[in-house]
Amino acid sequence: MEVHKYLLLTTITTIFFYIYIRFLRKVKKLSIPGPLSLPFFGTKWQSIEMSKLHEYYDGLNKNYGDVVMELNGNFPIVSIFNRQDIDKVLSSPSQFPFRPPNEIQTFYRMQNKNRYSSTGIANEQGPEWLKLRTKLSLKTLENRKFHDQFCNDLNDICSDFNDVIRTVRNENNEIKNFHENLRLMSFETNCFFVLGKRGYGSIEGSEKIAKLTDANVKIMEAIRDTYYGTQFWKYFPTKAYKTFAESEELIYDVISEIIEKILIEDKEKASDTEITSILEKVVNAEGLDMKDKICGIIDFLAGSTEAKTATIMFLLYHLSEHPEVQNEIFKEASLLNEFLTADDLKKAHYTRAVLYETFRLTPTAPALARILENDFELSGHHVKSGTFVLCQTMVACLKEENFIDSNSFKPKRWLNANGEFDSSNLPESSLVLPFGTGKRACPGRKFAEVELVAIVIKLVRAFKIKYESRFDKVFKFIMTPEFPVDMKFEDR
Ligand code: HEM
Repeated sequence: MEVHKYLLLTTITTIFFYIYIRFLRKVKKLSIPGPLSLPFFGTKWQSIEMSKLHEYYDGLNKNYGDVVMELNGNFPIVSIFNRQDIDKVLSSPSQFPFRPPNEIQTFYRMQNKNRYSSTGIANEQGPEWLKLRTKLSLKTLENRKFHDQFCNDLNDICSDFNDVIRTVRNENNEIKNFHENLRLMSFETNCFFVLGKRGYGSIEGSEKIAKLTDANVKIMEAIRDTYYGTQFWKYFPTKAYKTFAESEELIYDVISEIIEKILIEDKEKASDTEITSILEKVVNAEGLDMKDKICGIIDFLAGSTEAKTATIMFLLYHLSEHPEVQNEIFKEASLLNEFLTADDLKKAHYTRAVLYETFRLTPTAPALARILENDFELSGHHVKSGTFVLCQTMVACLKEENFIDSNSFKPKRWLNANGEFDSSNLPESSLVLPFGTGKRACPGRKFAEVELVAIVIKLVRAFKIKYESRFDKVFKFIMTPEFPVDMKFEDR
């Protein structure tokens, strides 16, 4: 009897939902397939583990096809998975490409006008975004002379980091929570790059900087939960919002104190180097509010620390799984000067291939977001101008139709017949966009690539590397390995 009741109830519920979906599709013209949408919640009624959001999107692709619509309340978000569609959207010309802002950061910064006069370069749109992009000396980040100078000092930072490893590893050559050491290293190089001085980050460890890198992680998680989750934080300060606000405040306080200290020091002694720092250039920039200058420096210093840490951790995981790849890097490294110059790093074709294969298989940015500025035909679906689109590059990169043996780590796919790093014979590489693309692409790309290649070469030259923790990918607004990570570094 009980079983019959259950069956009856299930049948009625299924029929009800079937009629409801047909009604929705007809009345709301949801021509794009996607999960069931409920009033008020949209498709966000499902219990999705945020750290596994990438698996959820993979499932959406498998269940609904290459163009999938979700509804956040009433607001549509369309995910696209097909390479041609992604190319079409991302290469569409635009004066001011529109990347949806981090709403929580925008909201918080607008509430704190005593500190912020804009929401920051990553969140602003249109002419205000262009002004920040032009005035914040981002051209310097691309400047050759500036990079050559940076390379020299990068050698010292990497050697010091190797010394830290030798000091902190135990008698079995193991380091617990190695990701924390990497975060400090990542912040140190950012500080050197932007401030032009060492000693403000702290690779040996300092409580203040460790708190800052920790706050960075909390910000990422809060952005993830509010970007992809329910929107209650807009109506009252949820736990995620409070954590976000405290973390932004901490980062602002620590970095503005550093900036103030440097500006006072520099006033006292005139700079004797020809290449001025990004900080100096930003501070002297005309037509920019002082609040925007400080906010710009804060975003440069703090924003990318976790992306660099995650990238190196992923890369070290692949190296650990493939000792033969470590040997190849070691061979390549032994042909380069001990003191790595910018030219040496350009010759490190195999190591760059390892970096790009890491980005393909385990990217830190799993998707690129845009608001469409025109109507598009995407895999037979009409998607209107103004739609929020997620270009799901990570899911696409793991498909066999795009890369042969797509789930295997094969750096050599990035090399041409002469053994040079060359993606031109790999058309699918247009999907591998670790730093985004177009006018809104990451301005830190060159600097990050140089740094990542140098760190890997220096580490592999000195140590045999072993990843000792269980490996998993988790989504924290960017993709990171599951932390904590313990590592083993044996002398070569
Ligand atoms: C491994 C390191 C890094 C990765 C994977 C990364 C990735 C990205 C991605 C995917 C975007 C969005 C691009 C788009 O929408 O097309 C971005 C934007 C941005 N990145 Fe990075 N980034 C890294 C390092 C850096 C560094 C070192 C800096 C600064 C020195 C930086 C500063 C920025 C800024 C300011 C933006 C916003 C640009 C705009 O909206 O105009 N990033 N980054």
